[in-house]
Amino acid sequence: MKDNLISLKNIRKSYKMGSLNLEVLKGIDLEIKKGEYVAILGSSGSGKSTMMNIIGCIDVKSEGMYYLNGASIDDIAEDELATIRNREIGFVFQKFNLITKFDILYNVQLPLLLKGLKKSETIEIATKYLEKVGLGDRLKHKPTELSGGQQQRVAIARALICEPEIILADEPTGNLDSHSGEEILKIFNNLHNEGKTIIMITHDEHIAMEANRIIRLSDGLIESDIQNKTSEKAI
Ligand SMILES: Nc1ncnc2c1ncn2[C@@H]1O[C@H](COP(=O)(O)OP(=O)(O)OP(=O)(O)O)[C@@H](O)[C@H]1O
Ligand SMILES: [Mg+2]
Repeated sequence: MKDNLISLKNIRKSYKMGSLNLEVLKGIDLEIKKGEYVAILGSSGSGKSTMMNIIGCIDVKSEGMYYLNGASIDDIAEDELATIRNREIGFVFQKFNLITKFDILYNVQLPLLLKGLKKSETIEIATKYLEKVGLGDRLKHKPTELSGGQQQRVAIARALICEPEIILADEPTGNLDSHSGEEILKIFNNLHNEGKTIIMITHDEHIAMEANRIIRLSDGLIESDIQNKTSEKAI
């Protein structure tokens, strides 16, 4: 239990829809250790994003216990939770969620500016991360002037900029062609090799095979949770 970065105990989530109580997560038990690379598979509506949003502290559970780094989420004050969300967790979404009116350098600088770093420092660090994802020659481009794969790489640079321990990616290759998808998976493999903990939602069995562990969700419950030996090739 002690070396678990993430520990969910009987997590339930339900939404009240008028008189109806819609149960989306029905008792999730899950432990993830530091440095694991986990893929989450499951059909549409099975509760994948809901579970990931709870793990990322952008949504709250209805019942159960969630321990992050050994501490119960219930004991963490809201402002401290906001800090954890911003600094410990990097989010990558299917739709990139970049700010289209700003150039990509500024998009990646933003989390550091919000953190209170000096402008010159933010430029230096953001440039380094954009170089890391192969976009060092596109700094002044706006997101709409880039391909989908390039935009997703910007989103990854932005997710990494505060050096989070955990990367949460919800269908990161969902909007990409297979070549761009491969590029993103390569970046994730590198991050995994650097020791980051990665949790990636995907619809695609083939993509899930990149991870070391594959969890299947079905109707709000974990249906299977297996170690994936074949991913060793990628390491
Ligand atoms: N804010 C909400 N209010 C009410 N119901 C919701 C809300 N968010 C999600 N749901 C419901 O919870 C269920 C699970 O949604 P979730 O987004 O977690 O599924 P998913 O597995 O990520 O699906 P997909 O693969 O389509 O993204 C769905 O039936 C959805 O309608
Ligand atoms: Mg989803």
